[in-house]
Amino acid sequence: MRANTNMSIQAAYDHWSATYDIDENLTRDLDRVVTRETLMGLRCKSVVEIGCGTGKNTLLLSQIAEKVYAIDFSARMIEKAKEKVTSANVIFVTGDITKPWACSHESANLITCNLVLEHIEDLSFIFSEAFRVLVKGGYFFICELHPFRQYRGTQANFQRNQEVIKIPAFVHHISDFFNTAKNHGFMLEDFKEWWHEQEQNKLPRLASFLLRK
Ligand SMILES: C[S@@+](CC[C@H](N)C(=O)[O-])C[C@H]1O[C@@H](n2cnc3c(N)ncnc32)[C@H](O)[C@@H]1O
Repeated sequence: MRANTNMSIQAAYDHWSATYDIDENLTRDLDRVVTRETLMGLRCKSVVEIGCGTGKNTLLLSQIAEKVYAIDFSARMIEKAKEKVTSANVIFVTGDITKPWACSHESANLITCNLVLEHIEDLSFIFSEAFRVLVKGGYFFICELHPFRQYRGTQANFQRNQEVIKIPAFVHHISDFFNTAKNHGFMLEDFKEWWHEQEQNKLPRLASFLLRK
């Protein structure tokens, strides 16, 4: 099978949206479990979800928050999310999170970011926007493909016809997450590594960070 590495991140997700929810994808499935396990007990007023995709985690967020603001730059991923999540307390917004977010200062109690930061070169901007938008004491929850997997060449990809589309990705080491969080004033509440149940003796698949302002 041929590899295609030329598609932009936005175009790639527009294409992937058609099958993102039904393709075999252990990373996506484990992330859903991790997010539920981490956030289920929480109750809050306002959540901002950055890179919401097809709304896999948005449904859960709509159950734990009074208001959810879900952002993604792929209009097609958002279309899929809107089919799935019809709760009146969710607003979907098409926007690029590498540009200033259309959110007021200190307006969110929780910001969530799942499987997005491998596509973002400059972590610093994201952490600074998250810190600006969170209320004092608010949480920033991040769950990402574990960099150990990136070291051996894994990156987000999907198949179309006879091609594997590899979506542009950047490696962020665990220390990059810790240092960027610290530099922007966040405290680390929790850090975990996660294995899918089918892969107990392999490399961890996901790394999650629960940060607090
Ligand atoms: C692997 S999907 C994850 C979607 C969802 N968070 C989940 O866990 O299923 C990555 C998502 O990040 C979005 N994304 C990547 N870069 C982005 C950017 N600069 N601004 C907004 N969304 C972005 C993509 O469009 C895609 O929907």
